[in-house]
Amino acid sequence: MATVTTGRLFRTTSPFQFAPKSNTFYPKASTMEGSKVKEERQTGSSEKKKIFVAGATGSTGKRIVEQLLAKGFAVKAGVRDVEKAKSAFPGNNSYLEFVKADVTEGSSKLAEAISDDSDAVICATGFRRSWDLTAPWKVDNFGTVNLVEACRKRGVNRFVLISSILVNGAAMGQLLNPAYIFLNVLGLTLIAKLQAEQHIRKSGINYTIIRPGGLKNDPPQGNIVMEQEDTLSGGSISRAQVAQVAVEALLCPESSYKVVEIVARTEAPRRSFEELFSSIKQR
Ligand SMILES: NC(=O)c1ccc[n+]([C@@H]2O[C@H](COP(=O)([O-])OP(=O)(O)OC[C@H]3O[C@@H](n4cnc5c(N)ncnc54)[C@H](OP(=O)(O)O)[C@@H]3O)[C@@H](O)[C@H]2O)c1
Repeated sequence: MATVTTGRLFRTTSPFQFAPKSNTFYPKASTMEGSKVKEERQTGSSEKKKIFVAGATGSTGKRIVEQLLAKGFAVKAGVRDVEKAKSAFPGNNSYLEFVKADVTEGSSKLAEAISDDSDAVICATGFRRSWDLTAPWKVDNFGTVNLVEACRKRGVNRFVLISSILVNGAAMGQLLNPAYIFLNVLGLTLIAKLQAEQHIRKSGINYTIIRPGGLKNDPPQGNIVMEQEDTLSGGSISRAQVAQVAVEALLCPESSYKVVEIVARTEAPRRSFEELFSSIKQR
């Protein structure tokens, strides 16, 4: 198996935790969560791992694509409108391709889009506001379930999902939390996401479910705080940091089969991603 380098030590385990379709290239994981992303090639090959990103045109998805490319991954952006998506990513990066993928159209079409060349899937979709109150259910529940099933069809065994804090707010005693009420009034969004999470957790696929607090487009303010599932009931984080956690999840074996809740706090200590993911227990 290929050697993986992290900032501190050399490991011999694949960060993908599955038999890779090719095992010749792994980028270097950042040592600190705020560290500058560097690309590092293993000698002997330039073949890159290809990551399928659903929701690549979204505010978080776009940052995920950019960070994956900066980290040395190839990206297959799954989008509803290929031409619109191309204009959202100016320049001509030969490691970025676009494929039509509407998550509501069923797992077979998605499996075609994912194809045989994707090594992992990151899902950053979220329903777009409309008068259709079933949209959250179609996108954030069935859409994500369709993606998981497409992965099973293609034998893709690594899935990273951007979910949300408070998805399990009822069990946390947060029924009266204004955010919980607001998001569920909008088509039971949090319940839709929780059901999708449960599907992933039962699928057997190696997952990392990332539950961020309120998302901000501003540059990061503060360091990342990572907590166990059903812990955080408020707080916010920049989309750039969420994207970073999603990308680093692919590089840190410690992220496997875990649900992590993240916000940013100025008073929090700066910790490596290895430390952050290691601090979370598998359940
Ligand atoms: N907003 C918050 O404060 C907050 C907090 C916690 C978690 N979250 C969650 O974090 C995730 C990312 O949020 P965001 O605000 O960055 O997202 P966003 O900007 O709203 O982007 C949503 C993405 O989902 C895509 N999408 C929507 N319907 C789709 C479909 N049927 N098939 C395929 N793609 C579809 C959109 O594609 P188009 O460009 O084609 O529309 C877009 O790329 C979401 O799941 C959101 O619920 C948000």
